[in-house]
Formats: sequence, structure tokens, C-alpha cells
Amino acid sequence: MTASFDTIVNLSKRRGFVFPSSEIYGGLRSAYDYGPLGVNLLRNVKEQWWKSMVQQRSDVVGIDSAIIQAREVWRASGHEEVFTDPLVECSNCNSRQRQDKLDDPDLCPNCGQRGTFGEPKQFNLMFRTHMGPVETSENLVYLRPETAQGIFINYENIRRTNRMKLPFGIAQIGKSFRNEITPGQFVFRTREFEQMEMEFFCEPATSGEWFETWVELRHNWYLDLGMDPENLRIRPHDDDELSHYSAGTVDVEYRFPWGWDELEGIANRTDFDLRQHQEFSGQDLQYFDQETNERFFPHVIEPAAGATRTTFAFLIDAYHEEEVDGETRAVLKIDKRLAPYQLAVLPLSKKPELIEPATRLADELRSTYMLEFDVTQSIGRRYRRQDEIGTPYCVTFDFDSLDDDAVTVRDRDTMAQDRVSTSKLAAYLAEKLG
Ligand code: GAP
Repeated sequence: MTASFDTIVNLSKRRGFVFPSSEIYGGLRSAYDYGPLGVNLLRNVKEQWWKSMVQQRSDVVGIDSAIIQAREVWRASGHEEVFTDPLVECSNCNSRQRQDKLDDPDLCPNCGQRGTFGEPKQFNLMFRTHMGPVETSENLVYLRPETAQGIFINYENIRRTNRMKLPFGIAQIGKSFRNEITPGQFVFRTREFEQMEMEFFCEPATSGEWFETWVELRHNWYLDLGMDPENLRIRPHDDDELSHYSAGTVDVEYRFPWGWDELEGIANRTDFDLRQHQEFSGQDLQYFDQETNERFFPHVIEPAAGATRTTFAFLIDAYHEEEVDGETRAVLKIDKRLAPYQLAVLPLSKKPELIEPATRLADELRSTYMLEFDVTQSIGRRYRRQDEIGTPYCVTFDFDSLDDDAVTVRDRDTMAQDRVSTSKLAAYLAEKLG
């Protein structure tokens, strides 16, 4: 079952996953703030990406480059010239639309009038600002629209200082900014968002094989984290969809409530970026192969995912409603590695004789797990609350705990309960949560 869009947006706001940015001033439709639950989920998504792309690979290293880079970077990359979307304006309601995303190119989706669009203009998506106190064309800079260029401009620094040999990758997670004409669908398309990108440099003759490898690895990453295979597909780009740098791209798509849409693009960028940066910077960015004595530009395979968009997809995918004892239970069946809290510690009553030892237990567990301590409402309601935010295990401290030195551990998905001695709790949880 795919959760409805409204259900997920409501859950996000009600439970503190995501809030509209600047909400007390009426909100800013194109940016969002991640609340206490959302920030944990987003961090866990990024952590899992970093783990599989950097930590667990001997051939990939990380970087964290600046958001503001020299203007020449974006000239060389082609973004200043061609990173545009076709913009049309409605002469009836003055709304601006992205022409290539319209269901009907003659119908304004805002006012319903037909034939009111003028000629499309190419609108550059980069945010512009100025370095320093004076606003002149000399100090014009852009907020980066992708993290990728920060990797290309550091390619030689990293190759040299880390003695990297082909094939190798450089990975980065960070904020990107695009002045989207029509942001929307909650955090799916925003003007400020986070990307998780990796540039994998390889010998040109091996790029086809590496492309296939990365498509498979990236597809499996989503599946391994519990995404329903029915909601994931791989779609090759048609030639007229390809970005200016790409010799071939496939998208990993997710079945969002409005239909299939992009989660991640995996592109064969060939040697486009290194060649361009060599030409514009005058620096030698060719690779010297000591075995063959050859100099050449490596080719690049780029898996480029959106951290915020992927977080949204995991939230949609995990949301389930089921009947339990004649009531509807909302449960986020999210992988335990992604769950905002791995544990909740729940003293059965607010009496100090339970609160004090339960607090001590929670404090011990906090050094290992992200957990919530909750004393409000009935235990049944507290379980439902934790189900809805995806907490895999609830640890309940009751009056018997004072005598038998044991707690009840409840499993989110099966709702089964185990009585576990507190001396064995750490080992029990380590087995369950890893
Ligand atoms: N370096 C290549 C690149 O940036 P992209 O397909 O434009 O490729 C990669 O972006 C990913 O970044 C997308 O698949 C999407 O997940 C995410 N993304 C792009 N624009 C976004 C936006 N406006 N809001 C949220 N995520 C976005």
C-alpha cells in the first residue's frame, strides 16, 4: 500500500519530522526545516549512504567542499550557460510554470485558461549572490547547484595527497541550491536540499562495466534498507532527456503517491568535467599511468542521490495502517538503522519509585542508542505513539521490575513482548538492533 501524500505530510508536521521553513511568517514554500524526528531520520539516511559508499569501500574517499566556489567552476561545468529550465508565463494569472513539466502545454494549471502562455524563456536555476560588500559582476558567485563540481575541482588534490590509483571514487554529502521554477510535492522538489553524490574515476575502456556495477549497487542499497521492490524501478533516460555532460543516465525511480519519479540519477559523465576544468583552469588534470606510461583523462560514473528526497521516500514506503483489535494502528515499519529512535523507555506510571530507576536505565542505554523517554498517557497510547514514529523496540519498566529486575521489551512490527532481565538487556538489544 502506498501511503497518501496528505497522510505523510500530516504525520511529518504533527510528529515533528518536517516543518515548513519560516512557518511563523506564513512559510516559504520552497524550503523546509527538519524537526527532532526528521533530523534523526535524515542523518541516518546519510549515515547509511556514507557507510556503504565510503566506509565499506577501499576505493572511495570522502570530501566536504565549500558551497560557494569560484564563478569559473560553473562556467567550466557548463552550468552558467545551460543549467536552465524552460519557463512560461500565463498572461491571464501571471503564474510561472516549467513548460517541460506541464501535463498539457497549452493549459495553465493555475487558472485553467488555455492558450495563455507566451514563448518559453530559458531560466537559469543557479542562485546568485555577491562576495564582499560591493555588488558588481566581478564578484558575482553562485550557491552550488550540485555537490559534484566540488569533487572535480579537488580531483587532483585528492589523487595526489591520498596516492589514489584508478579506479577510485570521491564521495560528498551536502547542501545544494536550485532556484526551481515550480518547487513542490513537499520536500520532493525544494530550492534548498541535500545531495549524496559520488564521482567514480576509471579507465575509459572500463566505464561501461562500472556503470552497470554502480546501477546495481545503488538499486540494492534501497532494497537492503527495506524499500519495497514493487515501489522501485530503474529507468534509462531517453536521448533528449540527457544532461549536457552525460553519455548515458539511468534513474532509480520510486513510486511516489503521484506516480513514478526520480530518486537518484546514475550518469556516465565521460571525461567531460576534467577536460573542461583543465581547459578553464590551465591545470593538468590528466592521469599518468605508471605501468603503461600513458596520460589520459579518466572517465567518470556518477551515482547522484538526493538525501532529503530519499528520506521522504523512506517515510512514505514505511508507513502502514493495520487493524488491531478493531482499531487502526498506524505503524512506520522503517529499517532499524534508519528509525529516528531505536528505543523508547517507558515507565509504567509516573510514580517516583518507577521514574527514578527507569531514568537510570534510559541514561545507560543512551550511550548506545538514540532513545525517547516517555511518561505521558496510558502505556497503550505510548506504544501507538512509538509505532507511528517507527521506534523498533519499547522497553517498559513496571512495578514487577522493582522485584524481578527485568523489563518488558515490545517489538514494533509483531507487537510481541519479551520479559528480559536488566543484566541481559544490553546483549538482547545488541542482537536485535546490531
Ligand atoms: N550531479 C548530478 C546531479 O546533480 P541531478 O539528477 O540534477 O544530478 C541528483 O540531482 C539528485 O538530487 C536527484 O536525483 C534528486 O534526488 C536530488 N535533487 C535534485 N534537485 C532537487 C530538488 N530541487 N529538491 C530535492 N532534491 C533534488
